[in-house]
Amino acid sequence: MKNKDKAYKQDTLAIRSGYQTTHENEHSEALFLTSSYVFDNAQMAAQSFSNEIQANVYSRYTNPTVRSFEQRLAMLEGAEQAVATSSGMAAILSVIMALLKSGDHIVCSRDVFGSTRVMIDKYISKFGVEVSYVAVTDLSAWQSALKPNTRMLFCETPSNPLSEVADLEALSQLAKQSQALLVVDNCFCTPILQNPLNWGADIVVHSATKYIDGQGRALGGAVAGSAELMEQVLGFLRAAGPTMSPFNAWIFVKGLETLSLRMKAHSANASALAQWLAEHPKVSKVYYAGLPDHPGHSLAKKQQSDFGAVVSFCVDGGREAAWRVIDATQMLSLTANLGDAKTTIVHPATTTHGRLSPEALQEAGIVEGLIRIAVGLEDIADIKNDLELGLNQL
Ligand SMILES: Cc1ncc(COP(=O)(O)O)c(C=O)c1O
Repeated sequence: MKNKDKAYKQDTLAIRSGYQTTHENEHSEALFLTSSYVFDNAQMAAQSFSNEIQANVYSRYTNPTVRSFEQRLAMLEGAEQAVATSSGMAAILSVIMALLKSGDHIVCSRDVFGSTRVMIDKYISKFGVEVSYVAVTDLSAWQSALKPNTRMLFCETPSNPLSEVADLEALSQLAKQSQALLVVDNCFCTPILQNPLNWGADIVVHSATKYIDGQGRALGGAVAGSAELMEQVLGFLRAAGPTMSPFNAWIFVKGLETLSLRMKAHSANASALAQWLAEHPKVSKVYYAGLPDHPGHSLAKKQQSDFGAVVSFCVDGGREAAWRVIDATQMLSLTANLGDAKTTIVHPATTTHGRLSPEALQEAGIVEGLIRIAVGLEDIADIKNDLELGLNQL
């Protein structure tokens, strides 16, 4: 299978690539729960440590189950190489630590995941890396934020929670002009719905914790890109240690096998829910790039094969009304996580984005009446009925 990988379609790659059977001839991917490896003799140990021969030495460096996940994800992203990490945040940390240095500057989209902002503002900045934040859709703001020392452009697309869409081709042009790298957090789309490298991005990062797992069981992350860049990221990971556990890698390898089916089903449910909400008399606004009147619709149609599963909507009456809707639902899980088979509901202004100041919330368009749904795989009729229980309270 290995040599023929490139000839297969994406759904086949998700199931077959990176698969190496052992001498036991097992059919399902083996789980190598081991921290280290033994050598036949002292010479082999010496050659393995000096890289004269390719052999496993220690699981912070290499592990066959982790490697299966990395190879499969790389194939799906169209990347030369992927590197697995202990979480999505570890993926972003590793990219920054491996590729930036003191005095460098990042231009970052304003609506990135909260911990990404905290990590950059509170920790990365301590090492002399500067950052400017811009609205993800405002190309002239990206352009004006560039400085001679800009070495990285970072964005999430579609954004959370308003589904704003970054123009990846345009951002990659800007990055190239300033000899910077374009890094895209592809967690919401997964490689099934969007391949940022095809639009000129240099690096893709993932929180595998979300859709790649798909059932809310394990933390993990990944970075994908050229072999040259990935070697540098791998160097940091091996030295610093936020690598993926073999057990989690095994869950993600199996998760990738069903990812395509799940993303199509998630997107179909989300699309149906967004349309239903758009027609609902108690809903004042719906944010979902799959709706034709969303400002990012045509760009999302160009860059993505479907629109994903995060739908946000507003109700009149601010926080009190939004909380009433949320509290009256009975089936939806009130949790900030997403990417699960179970539909989740959350009030962004007081949870996922609760650390932002009132001004920053307003600037980001996250009003008190906003509710975010990460649409799961339950029957869409049950999801609507449950939300109706909430909307009936208004
Ligand atoms: C878009 C995005 N990126 C990164 C992360 C961080 O991932 P993890 O929780 O696996 O560290 C998250 C987590 O919610 C996320 O939503």
